[in-house]
Amino acid sequence: MPEASTDSERDHRLPVRLTVNGQQQQLTLDTRTTLLDALREHLHFTGTKKGCDHGQCGACTVLVNGRRANACLTLAVMHEGDEITTVEGLGTPQQMHALQSAFVQHDAYQCGYCTPGRSAPPLERLMNCGAACQATSAPICAASHCSRPRNCANA
Ligand code: FES
Repeated sequence: MPEASTDSERDHRLPVRLTVNGQQQQLTLDTRTTLLDALREHLHFTGTKKGCDHGQCGACTVLVNGRRANACLTLAVMHEGDEITTVEGLGTPQQMHALQSAFVQHDAYQCGYCTPGRSAPPLERLMNCGAACQATSAPICAASHCSRPRNCANA
């Protein structure tokens, strides 16, 4: 009589189709793979950072269908067919997105490690709210010692 398989012996892999920065990607992943690890370890989009890996720091924030998400808190297989935007999808050092240029101009990037994640909330706001949101006076990003985040988001 065959022995029952253990958890580690079972196949947890599934095909996943993601669109990352406008390019369709087809992966076969362990169903326990986070979106963060899929982006970094499988697709090599290392601009998305792993900080706390527990949903507390925001360094892993990306846009999923135009809405921000902590990539460390969501499984890649939950995003079949979704459109993911990482910092690599915004611009290049030679041709930065206006938001990235504003971060540089206003010295809002601090040490730089979490800057890609911190760029996602104001980008989400710009993409989804348009002029109405830009006219508000509420702070847009949570940069703890940035006095000019609103300028960055209004770029
Ligand atoms: S790595 Fe810190 S919130 Fe995801």
